[in-house]
Amino acid sequence: MTAAVKIAPSILSADFGALAREVEDATAAGADYIHVDVMDGHFVPNLTIGPIVVEAVRRATHLPLDVHLMISEPARYVEAFAEAGADIIGIHVEVDEDLADTLARIRRLGKKAAITLSPQTGPEAIEPLLEAVDQVLVMSVNPGFGGQKFLPAVLHKIERLRKRIDARGLSVDIEVDGGISEENAGQVARAGANVLVAGAAIFGHADRKARVELLRRVASEASLPR
Ligand code: DX5
Ligand code: ZN
Repeated sequence: MTAAVKIAPSILSADFGALAREVEDATAAGADYIHVDVMDGHFVPNLTIGPIVVEAVRRATHLPLDVHLMISEPARYVEAFAEAGADIIGIHVEVDEDLADTLARIRRLGKKAAITLSPQTGPEAIEPLLEAVDQVLVMSVNPGFGGQKFLPAVLHKIERLRKRIDARGLSVDIEVDGGISEENAGQVARAGANVLVAGAAIFGHADRKARVELLRRVASEASLPR
């Protein structure tokens, strides 16, 4: 038996001059979420967007918005992103803040809480937080830029986290983000991921529907029964 894997196109690789149209195109292509990368030029060496753009994306789709905060002080901004229309709000475990408190605040706002790990961070860093989250985001490139090469070393981390989540009887999604393509979608799904972010592999091609369907098929065929 196989399980359906969700596909979350990352707008980082979309045409920002036609953002609403790009989001509508990904929605019509059958995407499950729209992944939104927020960068502050401090936690990562790049700057992208804030709540005002999330509001614009919100108006362009009915899909859940999966907002990935690559920022140093997420606690200051979770309300603003919730109000802008985020449905899933992810914070990085590497930030120097009271993570449990921020995750609880995200849930009190009626949103799904996600905890994110950069490639160098070991899975043990988030294991105490598994009860406090709806999703774990495993980064498979260094955060900051789209179009990088997938780091296969994260496959073990995904396997271990899936074992821990299942052993505790939790229903936590594992999302993988960075360098995902049809070459590795099967491997990450087999390791236990059930949500795949893809930027260049979707927005870098003209036929977004074909790309979403290809990634979902390759991943779903390889995925573990759930
Ligand atoms: C990187 C971002 C990713 C990235 C994915 O910091 O978090 O979401 O946009 O893009 P691709 O799939 O092109 O690596
Ligand atoms: Zn991301």
